[in-house]
Amino acid sequence: VKKSDVVSEILKDRLYVSPKNKIGEAYAPTNIALCKYWGKRNQELNLPVTSSLSISLADKGAAVSIKVNSVDQVILNNVILTPDSGFSQRLFKYIDLFRIENSIFFQINIQSNIPIAAGLASSACGFASVIKALNHLYAWELSNRELSILARLGSGSASRSIVHGFVEWHVGKRDDGMDSYSELIEKEWPELCIGLCILNRDEKKISSREAMQRTIETGSLYPAWPAKVAVDLSLLRQAITSNDFELLGRTSESNAMTMHATMLSAWPAISYCLPETLVTMQKVWKLRDEGLSLYFTQDAGPNLKLLFLKKDLHFVVEQFENVEVVNPFR
Ligand code: DP6
Repeated sequence: VKKSDVVSEILKDRLYVSPKNKIGEAYAPTNIALCKYWGKRNQELNLPVTSSLSISLADKGAAVSIKVNSVDQVILNNVILTPDSGFSQRLFKYIDLFRIENSIFFQINIQSNIPIAAGLASSACGFASVIKALNHLYAWELSNRELSILARLGSGSASRSIVHGFVEWHVGKRDDGMDSYSELIEKEWPELCIGLCILNRDEKKISSREAMQRTIETGSLYPAWPAKVAVDLSLLRQAITSNDFELLGRTSESNAMTMHATMLSAWPAISYCLPETLVTMQKVWKLRDEGLSLYFTQDAGPNLKLLFLKKDLHFVVEQFENVEVVNPFR
C-alpha cells in the first residue's frame, strides 16, 4: 500500500478538484508523548509498532496559510526558504500526494513558535497544520479521524496533533492503516502544567525516523518495548481518569527513560543527552527526593519537558532558568 492509495481512499472523487477557497488557514498545536511512539511496522505509511498517548501543547504550535501561487514556495517564520532546503523538499513531497504534478503550485506560509528540529515535535504540528489548511482550502470537510490518518503520512507524531488535550493514537492492525488514527481522550486537567526546558537549540544530529529504525534493527532491548508500552498506556489512562498526578508523572518519566534505553542498546548507540540534560535530570530527582511532585519526559533531543501541577508553578519557575510553562487546558 502506497501513501497515494491512502489519500485516494480517503478523498475519493474530491481528489484533484480545484480549491474552493482563496486561502486555506489552520492552526495545530504540537504534542508531547507521555507514552512514546518508537518504531514503525510500516515505514511508507508511518504505521507504529505500538499505540501511544500524548498531550497537546495549546498555543505552542504552527499556524499555516496556503494559497495558489505561480511557483512552489515556503515561508517559514517570515523567511523565504530556498526550494532545495530539506524542510521545503519534505513539505512539497507531502503536498505532491494531493495534486497532479505541474498542475498547481502553492505558497505555504508557516508561523511556528517552537524551535524546529530540536526534539520539540515541530514536524508534528507542521504536518497537522498543513493538512488542516489543505482541508480548508479545498473544503474537503474531513473528519478528525481522516485528518489524523493523512497527517500521519507526513510524520507519525503529526497524527496526534489534530486536536487539543490528551490524545491516544491507536496502533491499528490493518495493512492500509485505516484503523491507525488518533482520538481525543475526553478529560480536562486544568491544574496540569508542562515546562519546556530548552537546554540546546541546535538541530538534532540524527532524525527520530533514522534513530527508531536503527533501534528496531539493532537494539537488543527493543523486544521488551511493546510490553512496556502496553503497561504504561493502561497506567496513563488510569492516571488521567482518576486525576492521579504521581501516577501520570512516574509512568511518563519511566516510559521516556525506557525508550532512551532501547536506543542506547542499538549499534552504533544513540544518545540524545547532552551534559546539561543529565544535570537537569539529577536536579529533578533531587527536588523530588525533597518532596516536590516533579517529573520529566524527553524526546529525540536533549531538551526536557517537566510535568508538574499549578500549585508548584512558582517554585518550579524559580528553580529552572529559562523554563517556558504551558498550560494545556487553559
Ligand atoms: C521521540 O513522529 O518525528 O517524539 O514518523 O518518522 O516522522 P516520523 O517520526 P516522529 O517521531 C516522534 C518520536 C518521539 C516520540 C513521540 O512523539 O511519540
